[in-house]
Amino acid sequence: MDQKTLVVIKPDGLKKSLTGNILTRLSESKLEIVAAKITRVSRELASEHYKHMKDKPFFDELIKYLQGELHERRKVMAMVYWGENAIEKVRKLAGSTNPEEADPTTIRGSYGRITTKGLYENVIHASSNESEAEREIKLWFEPDEIIVDLYPTKFATMADITKRVWE
Ligand code: CDP
Ligand code: MG
Repeated sequence: MDQKTLVVIKPDGLKKSLTGNILTRLSESKLEIVAAKITRVSRELASEHYKHMKDKPFFDELIKYLQGELHERRKVMAMVYWGENAIEKVRKLAGSTNPEEADPTTIRGSYGRITTKGLYENVIHASSNESEAEREIKLWFEPDEIIVDLYPTKFATMADITKRVWE
């Protein structure tokens, strides 16, 4: 079954110079990358992304983490992986949420840590089911940033839009 999944290399992954290693690990999945960008994460985006965690005691710390405020790296790398069983394949390579419980050969098991405050810094995010993947991909990417049509789109005409263009 063809699936798509959102992968985010979190700020600790970027700070630790793990981008290449993580992409190499993920390439074992033989999935196709159909979108990728380095982007800043606003408080709104982080809160919406992790809205299912908003009642957790570590929610504020988690939002700061995704925004890069714990690592002086205010950016993440967001990607969409696409192909057969994409969600399970990527979750398997990522490893368990708790980096100390994750199999040491997985990405989180190899590179993650638990902070003194108890937050799991686990270097990547990966969608955990199809509805989560759809919600997250639509949250992080515009249709034109993805090179294949993953979900239905429509045309919207926006009047009075001012945007930055090359001079
Ligand atoms: O990321 P994953 O889907 O494996 O786990 P989650 O339950 O959706 O939690 C989202 C993120 O919150 C995790 O990736 C961790 O960074 C963080 N978390 C944490 O710090 N402590 C926990 N007990 C659970 C999650
Ligand atoms: Mg999750």
